[in-house]
Amino acid sequence: MSLSLSRGRQLDVGHHGIAQDDLPPMEGGRVDPRQWFLHKDSKPSDPGRRVELEIGSGKGTFLVQQAQMNPGVDYLGLEWAKAFWRYAADRCRRHGLENVRLIRADAAMFVTHYVPDGVFRQVHIYFPDPWPKKRHHKRRLVQASFLRELHRVLGPTLDDDRESGQVRIATDHADYFDWMQDHAAQVTDLFDRLPFVSPESAGEGEMVGTNFERKYRQEGRPFQGMILRKIPV
Ligand SMILES: C[S@@+](CC[C@H](N)C(=O)[O-])C[C@H]1O[C@@H](n2cnc3c(N)ncnc32)[C@H](O)[C@@H]1O
Repeated sequence: MSLSLSRGRQLDVGHHGIAQDDLPPMEGGRVDPRQWFLHKDSKPSDPGRRVELEIGSGKGTFLVQQAQMNPGVDYLGLEWAKAFWRYAADRCRRHGLENVRLIRADAAMFVTHYVPDGVFRQVHIYFPDPWPKKRHHKRRLVQASFLRELHRVLGPTLDDDRESGQVRIATDHADYFDWMQDHAAQVTDLFDRLPFVSPESAGEGEMVGTNFERKYRQEGRPFQGMILRKIPV
């Protein structure tokens, strides 16, 4: 646990935090994400309930703000760094947000191996790590192969007529944004590209209102973003 994040306070992830060891064995196949929202006090989740995914939740600011505004939507956050995962899950527990769960997992592994087709209405990716060195570019989260995987997990599936799911991306990093545009251009058969629109929880003058955005805004950095809307195939 990072003392600088918790400021000496004991963090308790409660049932809001799902550790790596709590995930079912990968060989068991993909799992309906609504199962994460069940716990001993809750009613069975409504099969028509909307579920959204945030990748790289950091301190959980987007989840806390957005989930409070939308109690009818379930939000699943993925966070790899243990200190951030613990901090964000504890924060959601303290806010009593029953519509948020934080899974400690690598996003590419989790989406590829655990998430069934067509389950998310939106995928939020805000200020992903830019990996600026060229030899590290292959570690960047947003790339054509991963966008193809996100297309698979977004609704609608062919047998349902709900509105098309979206990937929403924001970054402060100009070179990474150019890279994102190049990779989005490789999947134009799968996504329509739209201008970024802030989520309703963003504050006045904010793009999203995450911790990193607030920190970078003080440094005067410009932000860019895009929305990729699924083309059902
Ligand atoms: C630059 S921070 C942004 C955090 C937050 N979205 C914000 O805007 O304040 C990127 C976050 O993504 C997490 N992350 C990086 N790679 C990841 C991966 N493969 N799977 C899940 N989380 C990841 C990092 O641990 C970090 O918390």
